[in-house]
Amino acid sequence: MPCALVERRFFPALGLTLPPFMAKRVSQQPPPGTTDRRIAALLNLLAENATIVVSGARIAREIGVSRSTVWRWVNRLRELGVRVKGEQHTGYFLEKVPDILTPDTLRQRLKGSIFGKRIHHFFKVDSTNRVAMDLGHAGEPEGTVVIAEEQTAGRGRAGHSWHSERATGIYVTILLRPKISPVQASLLTMMAGLSAFSAIRAQNDIEADLKWPNDILIGSKKLGGILTEMHAEPNQVRFVIVGIGINVNQEKFPAELSAIATSLRVETGRPQSRLELVVRLLREFETDYNQFITKGSESVIRNFETVSRFTRGERVRVTNGPESFAGVTDGLSPEGFLRVRPEGRGEPVTVIAGDVTLDRAVVARAKKQGSESK
Ligand code: BTN
Repeated sequence: MPCALVERRFFPALGLTLPPFMAKRVSQQPPPGTTDRRIAALLNLLAENATIVVSGARIAREIGVSRSTVWRWVNRLRELGVRVKGEQHTGYFLEKVPDILTPDTLRQRLKGSIFGKRIHHFFKVDSTNRVAMDLGHAGEPEGTVVIAEEQTAGRGRAGHSWHSERATGIYVTILLRPKISPVQASLLTMMAGLSAFSAIRAQNDIEADLKWPNDILIGSKKLGGILTEMHAEPNQVRFVIVGIGINVNQEKFPAELSAIATSLRVETGRPQSRLELVVRLLREFETDYNQFITKGSESVIRNFETVSRFTRGERVRVTNGPESFAGVTDGLSPEGFLRVRPEGRGEPVTVIAGDVTLDRAVVARAKKQGSESK
């Protein structure tokens, strides 16, 4: 019998979590809570006729439901923040075309892509990683995408939660079935970081950076993060899920996050299209993934080292349990681990386990210098 890795074990240095074993489900039903295709069709119909009043009767006819169902769904969309104006007897129109990532639109924009085939969209879900993990166990194929407008229990690394405000960020998880070892799977986190970085830079002229292994930063603030989880046997991955969160249109963050989180909107001063960004992200991801599968891990490691200023000469603190030391980053090892040269010692240390943080004193100093020079 194959020996499955069953416990949830966290390998901080790899940015990887192994989930608990779950009984294999074989159902091919869409997961509970998935957006009803007809609500998406209603939204599409309104968006295609934006600012024009569409009668309830026409909507009912075109999407194949009763007029009272149209009324119920319009109210549901309103609850979700979509600005639908009008009444049952007058008809409806969209005051503003919402930036909602409906599966039909995504499928259309991702034609020909492995990620355009099976897209599960949720207006609200606990965690897209949780859903993707269930779908992995249920036998869903490689390329399945789970995307949500809002997460109520978004998961972050090391047991943290991921703030997932409605329709402002990108919350997406990709299911993969690569024929690789569990150790290699950790490189998918770095690869996803590279894909997200390219997508963000293609749309914005901003100074982002990749903090090894899974953060997208602007300055010392977090713009995005990646959480890779997998189900594997000791030498072979069964499936991997790569969860990506990007802060896009948030105008502010809860008090406890405001010093450490930022969004594209905050940084650029203008609202962004989540649709464009997620399409770019999935296209970049597909290119990078194909390269990873055909050429192996080396190109991911070298690209990461080239793109990430963080890996070269950044002052950091490495903490592993009660032990901690300060040092300067010194590239990646051939396996993709971070190397840190401890202060006052010559030889770099390879960080296999532990948490790496930007050196607070240095960050604080940089901030102070920044405010003094203003
Ligand atoms: C981190 O801590 O930096 C990782 C954050 C990963 C967040 C994303 S949002 C989509 C996916 N679903 C989750 O529950 N988490 C990931």
